Amino acid sequence: MTYRVIQWATGGVGKAAIEAVLDHPQLELVGCWVHSEAKHGMDVGEIIGTGPMGVVATSNKADILALDADCVVYTPLFPNEQEVIDLLSSGKSVVTSVGWVYPFDALDTQPLDAACKTGNSALHGTGIHPGGMTERFPLTLSALTRGITHVRIDEYSDIRTYGAPDVVRDMMLFGHTPEAARQSPMVKFMGTGFMQSIDMVAHELGFKLDADKRTIHDISVATAAIDSPIGIIEPGQVAGQKFTWEGLVNGEAVISASVCWLMGEEHLEEGWGFGPEGPRYEIAIQGDPDMSMTVHGCHPASVEAGLLRNEGVVVTALHCVSAIPYVCAAGPGIKSYLDLPLISGRAAPHFQE
Ligand SMILES: NC(=O)c1ccc[n+]([C@@H]2O[C@H](COP(=O)([O-])OP(=O)(O)OC[C@H]3O[C@@H](n4cnc5c(N)ncnc54)[C@H](OP(=O)(O)O)[C@@H]3O)[C@@H](O)[C@H]2O)c1
Repeated sequence: MTYRVIQWATGGVGKAAIEAVLDHPQLELVGCWVHSEAKHGMDVGEIIGTGPMGVVATSNKADILALDADCVVYTPLFPNEQEVIDLLSSGKSVVTSVGWVYPFDALDTQPLDAACKTGNSALHGTGIHPGGMTERFPLTLSALTRGITHVRIDEYSDIRTYGAPDVVRDMMLFGHTPEAARQSPMVKFMGTGFMQSIDMVAHELGFKLDADKRTIHDISVATAAIDSPIGIIEPGQVAGQKFTWEGLVNGEAVISASVCWLMGEEHLEEGWGFGPEGPRYEIAIQGDPDMSMTVHGCHPASVEAGLLRNEGVVVTALHCVSAIPYVCAAGPGIKSYLDLPLISGRAAPHFQE
């Protein structure tokens, strides 16, 4: 069976998702929504830098809603619940990197549930962190141990490889004062997603979490000038940030998810760096026996390579696209990993002929 797919937004994740759809034996790209007026009317092949493919991008939401399609890969800069409701109600399932990984405890899901029923469609939130490393992979690993007392998921990334200088400077507040960075909107914005992942892990493992979770925001300043893609980071300005979200039982952390972003490793305060393993994801479960897993492959080999093609962005898109056949077959409703069968990738096209 071939599923008809629409791509919603063509930023880094969106463009990588289009490539992945084109490569997937069960998927066909039939439409594309773009935010920017400049891309309206362009062939999608032009947007991703290949030859024309006969699918034309539109910034008109009504055009997209009217299309006959099975699934939308929804990857805009900001989530818009009404857009998702409209897509679901129009009969299209939605797979997304912008939220709803496990919304059941934190959000009123009734409007989304109703839209799924109306459209006989499904909503699946996924990605990498949150949306993969944070809950799907630790839960899989957890089956190999018992008596679990703590789950930890850490990301270590070189933020110089993230090709969105405006976001790095103006939203993440690198290169600003520590006082300014403490007001970073990222803490709340990202926390919304990570708290849902913590809820999923707690729910499945059986931890009865305290009502309040803990957020910790650590900052390192540059100890000497750092030349970075967003300009010179002067001594005393923010050059490293670690955000940690914790699920607690009686005030004790039982699930910790963190993101540690560094402007390289030079000229940071003592104790800040990637260590010998370099940029990576780490999953560690305390139980009997302790289990741990380090994941490489989601980080570019160099700053220059990352600015051209960032694997972290690519794998986020792939996790969305790989889920499409399973989500389309899942029946109506909000579907987390707990509701779906094992999601896998596919062999290269030349092995499938
Ligand atoms: N869960 C995860 O692990 C994970 C990982 C990476 C990213 N993400 C999320 O995935 C989303 C996409 O990331 P990205 O790296 O592709 O971002 P991006 O490169 O900045 O692209 C986002 C796209 O959204 C559209 N856009 C721009 N301004 C917009 C606005 N005001 N409202 C709606 N859409 C707008 C544009 O589409 P057009 O160019 O088509 O006009 C833009 O290219 C973000 O929300 C990001 O936070 C999640």
